[in-house]
Amino acid sequence: MNLLTLEDVGKTYGSVRALEGVSLTVRQGEICCVLGDNGAGKSTLIKIIAGLHRHDEGRYLIGDQEVRLSSPRQAIDRGIATVYQDLAVVPLMPVWRNFFLGAELGGRFRLDSARMRVVTQEALARMGIELDDVDQPIGTLSGGQRQCVAIARAVHFGARALVLDEPTAALGVKQSGVVLKYVAAARAEGLGVVLITHNPHHAYLVGDHFTLLKRGRMAGSHPRAEITLEQLTTEMAGGSELAELSHELGRPGPEADS
Ligand SMILES: Nc1ncnc2c1ncn2[C@@H]1O[C@H](COP(=O)(O)OP(=O)(O)O)[C@@H](O)[C@H]1O
Ligand SMILES: [Mg+2]
Repeated sequence: MNLLTLEDVGKTYGSVRALEGVSLTVRQGEICCVLGDNGAGKSTLIKIIAGLHRHDEGRYLIGDQEVRLSSPRQAIDRGIATVYQDLAVVPLMPVWRNFFLGAELGGRFRLDSARMRVVTQEALARMGIELDDVDQPIGTLSGGQRQCVAIARAVHFGARALVLDEPTAALGVKQSGVVLKYVAAARAEGLGVVLITHNPHHAYLVGDHFTLLKRGRMAGSHPRAEITLEQLTTEMAGGSELAELSHELGRPGPEADS
């Protein structure tokens, strides 16, 4: 089933054309990777999906219903969870408080903290995340661990689509691997995932579909079966442009001799 569909979506900021003619489908149980360099329009795309900005061209459908979102709340209420790179957490608050931030259990005047601790622990365990102590301040977790908690949170609160903005950009190889493992776990739970990244290796480890953006336009859209990691890397690096440059510089690249 299609969770999210973008058809020929465009967005202009003043005189800057940030997106033009972008189409994308996110299905249940699939990871759709959006790749692109700086300025390609990735964040703009996320903001449209998340209800932060409204598209001014094309159509945006959630399920089979066309929407024009005017706030993030509207996206969240429709089952779309967005995890931004600079996670909105309160560093000094325990993990469990952050997990339930804005969705606390208990009455108006008394939080059921014991229950929230247990539920947090269980929700993390369900995703295979092992944390010694949900009482530790979330600020003491590594960037990768925080991304993982955010993913578990989205799954726990019943998100149907999960949108991740460059979750591995600031992480080393090992931590990136851990985060990607939980992205795959979210897919296994039946969510549809939009994974934004500029790293074709990370995308290829988990992706089912790859969409390339270049200067706000689509520069490619491939199901996994139709593209190899090598091709994806070349496309991402601006294959033909690099070949041209290497020719100009008199230094033929690896693709020149094949
Ligand atoms: N709020 C904004 N106002 C004006 N221009 C913007 C705004 N946000 C993004 N842009 C421009 O839109 C283009 C795409 O930006 P962005 O979506 O942030 O790309 P990416 O996330 O892929 O780096 C860039 O040229 C950027 O300068
Ligand atoms: Mg960005």
